[in-house]
Amino acid sequence: MSRPIGEAASAAARTAIVTGGARSLGLEIARELHAEGWQVAMTDVDADAVTSAAADLDPSGKSAKAYIHDVSDADQTEAVFEAILSDFGIPDALVNNAGIYPDHALLDMEVRDWDRVIGTNLRGTFLCTRAFGRARREAGLVGGAIVNFASTAGYSARVGVSHYSASKAGIVMFTKSCAQELAPLGIRVNAVAPGLILVRDDQITPEYRDNYLQMIPRARTGTASDVAGVVRFLLGSDADYVNGECIAIDGGFLAGRALVRAGTRS
Ligand SMILES: NC(=O)c1ccc[n+]([C@@H]2O[C@H](COP(=O)([O-])OP(=O)(O)OC[C@H]3O[C@@H](n4cnc5c(N)ncnc54)[C@H](O)[C@@H]3O)[C@@H](O)[C@H]2O)c1
Repeated sequence: MSRPIGEAASAAARTAIVTGGARSLGLEIARELHAEGWQVAMTDVDADAVTSAAADLDPSGKSAKAYIHDVSDADQTEAVFEAILSDFGIPDALVNNAGIYPDHALLDMEVRDWDRVIGTNLRGTFLCTRAFGRARREAGLVGGAIVNFASTAGYSARVGVSHYSASKAGIVMFTKSCAQELAPLGIRVNAVAPGLILVRDDQITPEYRDNYLQMIPRARTGTASDVAGVVRFLLGSDADYVNGECIAIDGGFLAGRALVRAGTRS
């Protein structure tokens, strides 16, 4: 399925890999791409959840399939990409969504806490990106798109998530680097930086939510669908000239935060 750079392709025959596809943002992205006609390879460490999520989309496994995968594990990533290639052929798109965001105060953080967050969010994104790029290079194909997952935390610091913020700031520059390095293969690489997207009922306390809402000009928290829509756009031909960019999906949080903090002048 080689396509010249810039040529729009029908979604019908395309395959997207969505890491962390078992639930929340990854699942919504997989659902929306699948509804648009993409074949989706959904990978996740949570074997039961990803198996049932993929079966919900397509019980036959022909257009949606689950792969048990820890993105931070290099050998597993190689094996999972081999399996996806054998099931679906060379993938057209990669969504590096898998990520974790535990709270750890800096001075109480264990080395393993740091390594787990950096390993999943940053190393995992590198390993999957490399496997995707190698597969397309070896097949001699031109084209393709990657969407990485940064966060507003990669731009704006919050207490208790220094490892997470560092990983997501790293994703922004990794995205720009990949856009340069993968350009000869015609692969566009962009990122999204979601703000507060509610994916679970117990994600935040009501007090945190109320405080946070004061910093969001759009005056609401985000939804999985808000994120999936931007990812779909970035993978599609309408975004053909968007490359190396990180798009905030935050209701204006990053744009307005400083002003809210400063308050009004009079
Ligand atoms: N929800 C938000 O408010 C928000 C905000 C900014 C950025 N993000 C980013 O969006 C992405 C998805 O977040 P979410 O809220 O949907 O998270 P989530 O915890 O609800 O879901 C993440 C999924 O990734 C899987 N996963 C975790 N570690 C993995 C690993 N090592 N290998 C493969 N899969 C793994 C989990 O099993 C889970 O299914 C993450 O990269 C996160 O940092 C989320």
